[in-house]
Amino acid sequence: MHGKVLKPFHQYRRVVVLTGSGISAESGLKTFRDNDGLWENHRVEDVATPEAFERDPAMVHRFYNMRRAQLLGGVEPNLAHLALAQFERAFDGEFLLVTQNVDNLHERAGSQNVIHMHGELLSAKCAACEKQWACSVDLSVNSVCEQCGTQGQVRPDIVWFGEIPYCMREIKHTLRDSDLFVSIGTSGVVYPAAGFVREAEYAGATCVELNLEHTGNPHFHHSFTGAASTLVPQYFS
Ligand code: APR
Repeated sequence: MHGKVLKPFHQYRRVVVLTGSGISAESGLKTFRDNDGLWENHRVEDVATPEAFERDPAMVHRFYNMRRAQLLGGVEPNLAHLALAQFERAFDGEFLLVTQNVDNLHERAGSQNVIHMHGELLSAKCAACEKQWACSVDLSVNSVCEQCGTQGQVRPDIVWFGEIPYCMREIKHTLRDSDLFVSIGTSGVVYPAAGFVREAEYAGATCVELNLEHTGNPHFHHSFTGAASTLVPQYFS
C-alpha cells in the first residue's frame, strides 16, 4: 500500500464499486473458487462456456436452472448489499456499481445504478436474434424465443468464458473519471474485471480492496480484510 490518504466520502466526486461473489457469500450463494469451484463434479469453468452449451445444452440449463431456483428460493441481500444501497442514496456525487455477480441481490437491497457485466440469472437471451427478457422459470432445449419464435436457441443471459462482458465501454469511461474505486468480495483473477483497479489507479483514483483475504494486488492503495457483511457497512458508514 502506498500514498493516497483516504478522504471523507463527501470529498470524492465519482465513485466506482466493483463486486464479486464474496459479497453474496453470506447470503448463502457459493463463490466460484470455494470448494474448488465444482458443481456436480464439473469445473464451473467447464460449464459456463459456449462450447459446453453447444456440446450439452441440457447440462448447462440444469446448472443455471438450479442457481436461478436457489436465488428465488429464499436467498436475501445481506448487510453489505444494504450498506452499498444506503451509501448510493446518501452520496451526492456520481456512483456506479459494477458487479460480476449474476444474482439480483444488489437491486433487491435498493441499489439503482448497477451494471451486471457478466449478465443475470433472472434474464434469458435468444442466441438466434439476441433478444433478452426477464426470466424466473426453468429454461430448456425446448424453450421458445419470445421475439423470433425460434425453439432450442434460448440460453441463460450469462456472459460465459470467452465472451465479451456487457457495458465495457461505459465501465472503462467511468473508471477513467473515477476518484475512488472500491473492490469488494472478488479474488481479482478473472479479466477484464481484474484489470479495473489499474485503470482506476491510472486515472488517479484512490483504490481500496474490501475482501475476506488480501489478494496481494499491488494496485490497491488500501486493503481491508473481513467478512463483507461486517466490513462494508463499517467502511461505508
Ligand atoms: N466476505 C468478503 N469476501 C469474501 C467472503 C465474504 N463473506 N467470502 C469469500 N470472499 C472472497 C474470497 O476471499 C475471494 O477472494 O470473495 C472472493 C471470491 O472470489 P471468486 O470465488 O474468484 O469469485 P469472483 O472473484 O466473483 O469470480 C469472478 O469469475 O468464475 C468467474 O464469472 C465468474 O463472476 C465470476 C468471476
